[in-house]
Amino acid sequence: MSTMPSDRSPDSTLAFIREGYRFVGSRCDRLGTDVFQTRLLLEPTICLRGREAAELFYDEERFVRRGAMPMRGQRTLTGVGGVQGLDGQAHRVRKAMFMSIMTSAAIRRLGEIFDEQWQARIPVWARNGPVVLYDEVGEILTRTVWAWAGVPLAEADVPRRTAEMHAMIEAPAALGPRHWRGRLGRYRAQRWAGDLIERVRAGAVPAPEGSALAVVAGHRDERGLPLPRRIAAVELLNVLRPTVAVDRYVVFAALALHDHPHWRDRLPGDDAATERFVQEVRRYYPFFPVAAARVRRSFQWRGYTFPQGRRVLLDLYGTNHHPGTWPEPEQFRPERFTGWRDDPFGLIPQGGGDHFTGHRCAGEWITIELMKRAVTNLTGAMDYRVPPQDLALDLGAMPALPPSGLVLDGVRPVDGAHRADGVRPLR
Ligand code: HEM
Repeated sequence: MSTMPSDRSPDSTLAFIREGYRFVGSRCDRLGTDVFQTRLLLEPTICLRGREAAELFYDEERFVRRGAMPMRGQRTLTGVGGVQGLDGQAHRVRKAMFMSIMTSAAIRRLGEIFDEQWQARIPVWARNGPVVLYDEVGEILTRTVWAWAGVPLAEADVPRRTAEMHAMIEAPAALGPRHWRGRLGRYRAQRWAGDLIERVRAGAVPAPEGSALAVVAGHRDERGLPLPRRIAAVELLNVLRPTVAVDRYVVFAALALHDHPHWRDRLPGDDAATERFVQEVRRYYPFFPVAAARVRRSFQWRGYTFPQGRRVLLDLYGTNHHPGTWPEPEQFRPERFTGWRDDPFGLIPQGGGDHFTGHRCAGEWITIELMKRAVTNLTGAMDYRVPPQDLALDLGAMPALPPSGLVLDGVRPVDGAHRADGVRPLR
């Protein structure tokens, strides 16, 4: 048995907040390891990165999720009592609820609504001069996912609902006002989502069959009981919030098109190339830094002891940039996905393992669909310029976003733009 490498700091919480996405990877590089021990929020914590570590982390026999996510993350990002913190049968039943929404027809429908909403905005952007892509796409996604989920939304409420979703996403690693905006956003969103669930259950608001609203309101848990109002609100928001968060990936995709402009000509009309491009955006750009779990029962791995109850963090960003899996990981190269065999533990921006039985993101297919549609619209439905602005990505800021939010200027619709049916006339 060996002593696990350690970063030897009495507590590394501030270093984690300061170094962000590079916190685990830089220590792994320094210590020459993919596993080390540190203290975070005063608690001993094991950090892991890499493909084999991901395979270990998603072994349900070895890890549980209960009590793994710090309360500041639950009170802002995920909510308390949601699917993320469940284990065993309770998790399977709750996860099945989410996965039942993710049929290929439903995903396509979501994509079609998104296309309609995006294409309706192009003439507005053309008329109004410079636009901030992050703000615009956030609102497009709010309109899209509310309509898709069967949740009523007045146009006048779009900005504040989008702001609530953004506040929750930005809050977990933030200190001060940004954190408190997230707490307030969650409080308000859970209140209106809870009211809505109650009105659906009372028959006062119709919920289209198969929609997220109907599925969550009517869900029965593993004991056959309906979800309490508060938990149902958390789970409805677990569909709405992360779908709006796809706006960050859309900004990253536009940033990649700006930094590697030759892809603008290569992608239109080529679905496979667009998918490879989107996969590389998800691999390359930072989103969630880590996933958290606790050791179910003590075990040994690579000669190191993982004691029962110990908190373990898997470095998602670092695994997507691990040189053992990804040659030249700091290069943006969509070609690397040519002939790529889906690897559930190598590419893990949205978690790894199995969507149905494990904690892998329920919305991964939706995310890829929306990103592909966004890239198709950016390259095929409109022309634009990217004026000088601050686009530097700070890997110390979680969640990352270019400071400008990506300003587009000179937007112009392109005739014969790509349509949702996948047929794109030649320009
Ligand atoms: C914006 C892009 C997205 C990213 C980067 C992302 C990332 C993640 C990550 C890292 C996890 C945790 C994996 C783990 O704990 O092992 C997760 C879980 C989850 N995501 Fe996403 N996600 C995204 C979009 C979505 C969308 C669009 C939905 C909509 C349904 C969604 C719903 C969920 C749910 C319900 C879980 C919990 C799954 C479970 O615990 O079993 N996510 N996501």
